[in-house]
Amino acid sequence: MDLVPEKKHNPGIKRVIGITSGKGGVGKSTVAVLLAQSLASRGLKVGVLDADLTGPSLPRLLGIDTFRAESDGKRLYPVINEEGIKVLSINLFSEHEDEPVIWRGPLLAKALEQFWGDTEWGDLDFLIVDFPPGTSDIALTAFQTIPFAGIIVVATPQDYVSIIVTKSIKMATMLNAPIIGLVENMRTLICPGCGETVSLFDDGSTEGTTRLGLPVIVSLPWRKEVAQARSLRWSQISEATKKDADRIADEAERSVLQAEPCPAP
Ligand SMILES: Nc1ncnc2c1ncn2[C@@H]1O[C@H](COP(=O)(O)OP(=O)(O)OP(=O)(O)O)[C@@H](O)[C@H]1O
Ligand SMILES: [Mg+2]
Repeated sequence: MDLVPEKKHNPGIKRVIGITSGKGGVGKSTVAVLLAQSLASRGLKVGVLDADLTGPSLPRLLGIDTFRAESDGKRLYPVINEEGIKVLSINLFSEHEDEPVIWRGPLLAKALEQFWGDTEWGDLDFLIVDFPPGTSDIALTAFQTIPFAGIIVVATPQDYVSIIVTKSIKMATMLNAPIIGLVENMRTLICPGCGETVSLFDDGSTEGTTRLGLPVIVSLPWRKEVAQARSLRWSQISEATKKDADRIADEAERSVLQAEPCPAP
């Protein structure tokens, strides 16, 4: 079986970055939103594709809670948030955001292919793709459909998480998606009361420049403002969180600008 079939390029989209982990709940969507916000704050044209079709969370994190995405039966139209970020998520097509999507794999794959290929993304400098947890159906379709310029892996420093994250790193490698590096999340907690740094998810390793065989882009501490935020609006997050987001965006820009942009179709 050909694991990596020929992909359909989207001529208006310069570069696509995937946010993966394999593990659920480690901060993929948080990192996707921080990265998108930081890139948009630089005046770049940014889109976010929520590939987590059964557990979408991006619209709210990007400050969208009232708008609906549109479709004319052929093309899908993303919603544009206040920062100018184009957002497409299955939640934006649901009548009620708490309705579950109870679809089997082939239907989910078709939806993801449409999100990529049948959507009016317009011209984008970066499209950020937020992966679902796991290494099965949707993740496989995403890797086989979308030409990623780079993948950012998110992990918490816990032994059992590392094993699962390693599976997703191997998956990306097998599917020829270049990995930019690792965002380590929640190694430490910054006490909202006294500002002291406390070890939170501590697997005995020390903070370092490489982990799981990947360069560490940044180690994000647990922050109360991130945990409690209804959305992560650029104008509302602290300077410290912005600085962390900027480090992820710097690295994304640096590494993929060295690579060739998506070729014309
Ligand atoms: N650095 C952080 N500080 C505080 N809370 C955080 C941080 N990172 C993530 N969280 C919180 O942890 C939870 C999981 O984060 P998030 O939804 O980004 O993870 P995920 O990997 O996308 O999850 P899923 O696999 O379900 O899609 C959320 O409630 C989020 O607000
Ligand atoms: Mg998520």
